[in-house]
Amino acid sequence: MSIKGRIIVCRDYDDMSRRAAEFFAEYIRSNSRAVLGLATGSTPVGTYKYLVEEYRAGKLDFSGITTFNLDEYYPMAPDHTQSYRYFMDTNLFDHVNINKANTNVPDGLCADPKAYCEEYDRRIAAAGGIDVQLPGVGKNGHIGFNEPAPYLVGGTHLAELKDDTIAANSRFFDNVADVPRKAITMGIDAIMNAKNVVLLASGKGKHEAIAALLSGVYTTEIPVTLLRAHSGLTVFCDENAYNG
Ligand code: F6R
Repeated sequence: MSIKGRIIVCRDYDDMSRRAAEFFAEYIRSNSRAVLGLATGSTPVGTYKYLVEEYRAGKLDFSGITTFNLDEYYPMAPDHTQSYRYFMDTNLFDHVNINKANTNVPDGLCADPKAYCEEYDRRIAAAGGIDVQLPGVGKNGHIGFNEPAPYLVGGTHLAELKDDTIAANSRFFDNVADVPRKAITMGIDAIMNAKNVVLLASGKGKHEAIAALLSGVYTTEIPVTLLRAHSGLTVFCDENAYNG
């Protein structure tokens, strides 16, 4: 293995979710003003569930926490049931004592995406940067919506989704034609500049991406491989993602 960080191979999805949640819970307990970078999708649902349980058990306080989500479809209304704002509210924010004003999810209806993206990066900088960033990973190796490409963009930007990402995400929509073709996403800079990165991967479908991360190559054609250079990386993956 040749990553700078560490990899924790968990028994299954539930074990991965519990251990990743423990990592976040410990971090929040040691830094009550932490700035967290968060993701949506299937993978972090269990982690958020365990964090809500810890909160309900009186073991976690989110009142001083600030969050920045990686991405949001564009265009997408925040109250749409497939918006990432809706996902975050229903999976985490509505169930803990976080101040919603301190939760940032890109605005899928912003009129001027370029200006909005610059503003999103300024907000991250003003918060002091991200302490712990949680990315999931796409089957094609994307992180956030930084899709495989000959080059990647540093700052937050409006990205075109790849056909395979649209196909993968169509499981959440009635029809593949309803999946937005664009998304606002944090760029590689915000992810790489996070003090800690907690990458989650579950299931055989993620094996190729995890194998590429561990293989020793860096390529923007498999964006997750760039995380090999991050010394604060912790990968929580299950045996299926690790072994294929
Ligand atoms: C979501 C995000 C995406 C997902 C990735 C994996 O906020 O940034 O990169 O993490 O598409 O999605 P799941 O977890 O549904 O397999």
